[in-house]
Amino acid sequence: MRTTSIPLLTDKPVPVIGTGAMPLSNPGRDGRLMDRDDAVALLHHAFDLGLTLVDTADIYAPDGDHVGHNESIVGEAVRTWPGGRDAIVVVTKVGIVRTASPDGDTWGRDGSREYLLRAAEHSVEMLGFVPDVILNHRAARSTTPYAETVRAMLAVQDAGLATRIGIGNVDLAEAELAWEIAEGQLAGVENERSPRFRGDSDLFAWCLEKGVAFFPWSPFGGGREAAELPVRYPEFAAVAAEVSASSGSPTTAHEVTLAWLAAQGPSVVPIPGFTRRETVESAARAAHVELTAGQIARLDATPADYTSTVPDEGR
Ligand SMILES: NC(=O)c1ccc[n+]([C@@H]2O[C@H](COP(=O)([O-])OP(=O)(O)OC[C@H]3O[C@@H](n4cnc5c(N)ncnc54)[C@H](OP(=O)(O)O)[C@@H]3O)[C@@H](O)[C@H]2O)c1
Repeated sequence: MRTTSIPLLTDKPVPVIGTGAMPLSNPGRDGRLMDRDDAVALLHHAFDLGLTLVDTADIYAPDGDHVGHNESIVGEAVRTWPGGRDAIVVVTKVGIVRTASPDGDTWGRDGSREYLLRAAEHSVEMLGFVPDVILNHRAARSTTPYAETVRAMLAVQDAGLATRIGIGNVDLAEAELAWEIAEGQLAGVENERSPRFRGDSDLFAWCLEKGVAFFPWSPFGGGREAAELPVRYPEFAAVAAEVSASSGSPTTAHEVTLAWLAAQGPSVVPIPGFTRRETVESAARAAHVELTAGQIARLDATPADYTSTVPDEGR
């Protein structure tokens, strides 16, 4: 696996493509949840292929009664992987409140120190170890000044509940504030980015300039849209055909998408989600897809939709 160095994130080598674990806790189209042993085995397969950065969150769960479900799977996979805990970069997230109720789950945000410390303690318990990084999942903009939330995340770090801290779903002003309060010790930013969504370009450029890790979430536009990517964004399919012809290795539009995101800068690590060995293997192959400067420029120039797959309201 091709790796990159992101000193603000970790001292470990970082694969240029990571693993988004969320779909392992989502019921599939048939309404069934993946068998836990199969989910752990899939993560082991990803780690074996070098996809050794894994993204999870406390709220990734089949329902509000099982907050921590995904962290517990990731924790088990990391603890039982023969390559060892130290070879994996584990990123988790806290700050969204998911509560079970008889009418379905309710969603909220809490950026307070008391809540974030409690949530981070729960994350450590679910993982079975201290994660490399805990991110604030989303700002609680209507209730907590962001400076307070950033200080609370530093308290999480000071309490030994994470090696480093970062933020997510932020704008440039929030990232700059976090940078100032954390005195430059900001490990990463996790925002949406894909052929579909290319908002926050000022924030993206800022992360590249500072060397802050940028994790593009839903790099294919999310589980519902992923299969349509080659049709919705034909330039990615066209470049895939060119790469296939020039390299002699069949290359897909999804692999080109991951290679294009990773090529934006050494601190950009896309985190595709997957539920099958084939898609894990495809993500690993994408790390070795070489795009020319001309191809990257053509992909950069494709029209994007600036509507996020997850609107900022609600969860
Ligand atoms: N911070 C946030 O607010 C936030 C929000 C959303 C997501 N995330 C993170 O981002 C990760 C990825 O997002 P996502 O899962 O929503 O969407 P995604 O990665 O854009 O799409 C996932 C879908 O892509 C398919 N896929 C994966 N690799 C593929 C490949 N090489 N070729 C073809 N299809 C492929 C998967 O299919 P199979 O299931 O068939 O393998 C899955 O259905 C999540 O797991 C989570 O960790 C973070």
